[in-house]
Amino acid sequence: TNARLTVDRDFVVGPVPRRLFGSFVEHMGRCVYTGIYEPGHPTADEHGYRGDVLALTREMGVSIVRYPGGNFVSGYHWEDGIGPVDERPRRIDGAWHTIETNAFGLHEFAGWAKEAGVEVMEAINLGTRGLEEARALVEYANHPGGTAWSDLRIKNGAKDPFGIKVWNLGNELDGPWQIGHKTADEYGRLANETAKAMKLVDPSIELVAVGSSGRKMPTFGEWEHTVLSHAYDEVDYISLHAYYQEHDGDALSFLACANDMDSFIESVIATADAVKAKRHSNKSIQLSFDEWNVWYQQRGDAGDQLHVLEKQQWREHPRLIEDEYNVTDAVVVGTLLNSLLRHGDRVTIANQAQLVNVIAPIRSEEGGPAWRQTIFWPFARMAELASGNILRVASSGDRFETAQYGDAAVVDASVTYDAERGRVAVFLANRGLDEDADLTVALRGFTASEVTRAEVLAIPDGGDRFTANTEDRQDAVGLVKLEHAAIADGELRATLPPLSWAVIEIA
Ligand code: AHR
Repeated sequence: TNARLTVDRDFVVGPVPRRLFGSFVEHMGRCVYTGIYEPGHPTADEHGYRGDVLALTREMGVSIVRYPGGNFVSGYHWEDGIGPVDERPRRIDGAWHTIETNAFGLHEFAGWAKEAGVEVMEAINLGTRGLEEARALVEYANHPGGTAWSDLRIKNGAKDPFGIKVWNLGNELDGPWQIGHKTADEYGRLANETAKAMKLVDPSIELVAVGSSGRKMPTFGEWEHTVLSHAYDEVDYISLHAYYQEHDGDALSFLACANDMDSFIESVIATADAVKAKRHSNKSIQLSFDEWNVWYQQRGDAGDQLHVLEKQQWREHPRLIEDEYNVTDAVVVGTLLNSLLRHGDRVTIANQAQLVNVIAPIRSEEGGPAWRQTIFWPFARMAELASGNILRVASSGDRFETAQYGDAAVVDASVTYDAERGRVAVFLANRGLDEDADLTVALRGFTASEVTRAEVLAIPDGGDRFTANTEDRQDAVGLVKLEHAAIADGELRATLPPLSWAVIEIA
């Protein structure tokens, strides 16, 4: 197959938002306990942070991490997670049928985030709680001192405020499964009043209102419109969540699911801008895509697992949705990253869900190793090399039909240009299952003239599109040098192997 892309250094979408390379740590399954935190693990430091997981988090280039949920947060008391650890209560977490020991809480997470070099994005509970607990938490976390809540933080060992900038006003409250599920009017009013009160404590914070927990929700569209009609002036972002998987061997639809992400994003922009127009507002709402990933809900559906768990005893950090990712999943994740980046003028926060063990790019075993899943690689390379400005990509070439998402270009791409570094970065997915893709990229107006790095993730020798990295074969799938990539006459030419994700750096 063939693909031709054209980019021009002056056709700029916007600057690359660093917060696009976010992740998510929920008190769910083994993300926190035996994931980022495992006192006694051979690599753990004096705080119990796993050194191997910290190193992989840094290597992945994660910029911001959403915490502590997720469905978990809608029943959470943040005060349970502060103060002397041996005095913290053990609680029932209804969302995941789990015993929460509260050994890990806000201080532990803030300390971990510092070690990992990531920004904290904190979610508040608007399921069972409200404005009073939320403004107390902002005071506890961000006020310098001299008030009851801020002095308690200091007493608990954090002299300096945590300085948390980005806050989620709850989680998926449009979903009937959510503890404290609400109508759009109920939530919109609560979000507006809570946002107002939180900003009265710290006016510098940025607030994310809950959008639809999926594009297929029956309330999608109406929910965003109603919520923003209540809370437009007080909030800065509206959230989006999306999970994709291959259904019944329909690989082509799965490979084209970024089409769905594209139109989800564009629909939410349209809805937010409709509210803007109606209000004669000058302010544009940004999008926070704060849960996205591949998730095989059919294979290990959370509902099914809960059903099984309900028949068992209440346990601490059970294994939940530990999906194993293969080559196809990595290519799809690459296309989802492309979709987010192409919309980086409006999607300025995104969080892959989740960071460790729970539908995650990093896996770890209790007392054992930590390793990179296949989906680690497109994220890590894009976080490393996407910088400067996002460029518009004009694309032509072969396309394919899908049962679920219409037709799609065989080669999916996004491009950034960093004038300071003199670097163009091209992120590519060949979605053709069987054929090489011959690619030409016309580069207009650049001085960069040499391919300085070209890497590809493809089906390894002896493997197939389902090959995954496992505890026994941790590096079965990874990046190798992309052999056929060169520049001639102002054009980049490359050959992408079937079903592959690639990055080409030109400097
Ligand atoms: O990431 C797993 C779960 O998916 C989150 O807790 C919830 O917000 C979403 O439904």
